[in-house]
Amino acid sequence: MTVIRQEQQQDIEEIRQVNVQAFGQSEEADIIDALRRNCSDLLSLVAIKEEQVVGHILFSRAILGEHNKVVNGMALGPMAVRPDLQRQGIGSELVQTGIKELKNRRCPFVILLGHSQFYPRFGFESASRRGILCEWEAPEEAFMILVLNEPDLHGVTGLARYRPEFKGETSGYE
Ligand SMILES: CC(C)(COP(=O)(O)OP(=O)(O)OC[C@H]1O[C@@H](n2cnc3c(N)ncnc32)[C@H](O)[C@@H]1OP(=O)(O)O)[C@@H](O)C(=O)NCCC(=O)NCCS
Repeated sequence: MTVIRQEQQQDIEEIRQVNVQAFGQSEEADIIDALRRNCSDLLSLVAIKEEQVVGHILFSRAILGEHNKVVNGMALGPMAVRPDLQRQGIGSELVQTGIKELKNRRCPFVILLGHSQFYPRFGFESASRRGILCEWEAPEEAFMILVLNEPDLHGVTGLARYRPEFKGETSGYE
């Protein structure tokens, strides 16, 4: 059985390992560590199987809009499942639990850059079709948004901004 719960202090090293294994590099694990140091408003969930961390998902603050209308929401990522346990539904459980919690927190939207085959099943749609653009160069179909509160996003277009830790700025802006 897999249990999804919020990250605890003792999970931190295992979260690093799962991310390094899933991505085959440490860049994503380093971003997670920098975000944890700098942010107090993350949502970090782990999947636990036989008392081990086998999956992880992180949501951090993202900003949409420009000038007179700016809306705060969350960005999904990185997310990782241990390679030997992928394609068994663990990633889906992490996404669904995260979205449920963000709805409870009245978060108006979630953006992400990811596999265009995977995320539409949770309600994510192309962000560019709403006039919302990624701050990085990325394939159009890979940049997606899930709107959780439509009225909050009325008339909001333009660039979506991630936390600076995603650009390697480890000190952040807080
Ligand atoms: C993406 C990832 C988190 C999904 O977790 P998971 O537990 O395998 O996901 P689930 O079993 O719930 O769902 C499987 C779906 O994930 C997608 N998926 C899994 N691995 C994938 C891959 N290498 N490339 C593209 N899509 C992939 C597929 O859409 C798959 O659906 P299908 O089985 O119907 O084809 C996991 O595969 C992973 O850690 N990958 C490496 C790191 C990564 O790419 N992270 C996401 C960055 S956006």
